[in-house]
Amino acid sequence: MIFYILSNFYLIAGIITKKYLEKKMIDYETIKPYLFKLQPENAHHIAECVLRLPNICQIPFNPYLKSHFIADDILTQEIFGKKFYNPIGLGAGFDKNATMIRGIQTLGFGFTEIGTVTPLPQAGNPKPRMFRHVEEKSIQNAMGFNNDGAYKVQKRVKQLYPFSTPIGINIGKNKITPEKEAISDYTKLLHTFKGLGDYFVINISSPNTPGLRDLQNEEFIKRLFGEAKKITDTPILLKIAPDMQEEDAIALTSFAVEAGADGIIATNTTVDYSLVKQPKDIGGLSGACLKEKSFKIFDAVAKELFGKTLLISVGGIDSAKEAYRRIKAGASLIQILSGIVFYGPDMIRDMNLELIELLKEDGYSHISEAIGADRK
Ligand SMILES: Cc1cc2nc3c(=O)[nH]c(=O)nc-3n(C[C@H](O)[C@H](O)[C@H](O)COP(=O)(O)O)c2cc1C
Repeated sequence: MIFYILSNFYLIAGIITKKYLEKKMIDYETIKPYLFKLQPENAHHIAECVLRLPNICQIPFNPYLKSHFIADDILTQEIFGKKFYNPIGLGAGFDKNATMIRGIQTLGFGFTEIGTVTPLPQAGNPKPRMFRHVEEKSIQNAMGFNNDGAYKVQKRVKQLYPFSTPIGINIGKNKITPEKEAISDYTKLLHTFKGLGDYFVINISSPNTPGLRDLQNEEFIKRLFGEAKKITDTPILLKIAPDMQEEDAIALTSFAVEAGADGIIATNTTVDYSLVKQPKDIGGLSGACLKEKSFKIFDAVAKELFGKTLLISVGGIDSAKEAYRRIKAGASLIQILSGIVFYGPDMIRDMNLELIELLKEDGYSHISEAIGADRK
């Protein structure tokens, strides 16, 4: 098994080096068949090896990838007192341990969200726990918050914060923490990361920690934000699941905003396994199959909360057109995760360039004019 992974790793590294020396674009379509022969989690480890390098070497930009970062005035927004040079961020779950922050920036992301981080290190669920649904361009994951724990991750963030592009810190409870003590996990995490990160995300919407989604209730949210706001001035957002009735999602998010939430992220993965042909019976689905479900919940929430709080849309976004649809529905920012598995690292630069074109075609001189345009 190790030999298999290593041989694929060297093959892929060889292709990248050859293309680099020939000064050609690294064509993801060339590498993808080899990556897709690996277990998704092993392919992720390879991506992590490459993306960790800028962090380890402490170089601000990888010179080859520099051109991937788009910072155009038309896309630049000031949010939470921080510059977001473009609206496309990396969704939580890719860089759980804050090892790739610089590398992620070189891919062109305007911001990143690390985590989910839990107070104690956690191994997560047994492997295999990540699966591709290639035909549906979708992923199913049952990772279960595998992460190095708050102590180690905090040290890594401290080394480079404040950073030139915003960093969100997504926090969750440990699996072993009983539900009635969940609040203390979140407050511990806010203390540990105090003064670090540009926003926090309360994750109570992952399907992979038993009982976590039960915390999506008004009583918990009221107590949580009551405590959280005493600990930090850093904005705190709530991330919700897509598997709620629209009325429930609207009620919950409106309540959260009243209780002190500074924004809503919609959505996490879905447990609606009817969205793919051959589902596994664990975990949550993301990617193209989630697109419409995620949009519907986002749109319902935006109908109520646009203009009242910051809205971030995530779930199945795989093109500039889809990003633009979310922006016009009220998203100031959007996030992507599964899309990069299927479309590769050029995707973010290409999407940003196309987004600029779409804005100009509609006669907008700044992204802020398009945000919520379909609501007005
Ligand atoms: C492998 C994997 C791991 C994830 N881990 C987390 C996580 O730790 N915390 C979280 O809030 N969301 C996590 N997510 C959900 C994503 O952040 C995102 O909400 C979801 O995948 C929908 O976006 P997408 O369709 O662009 O992937 C994970 C998703 C995937 C595919």
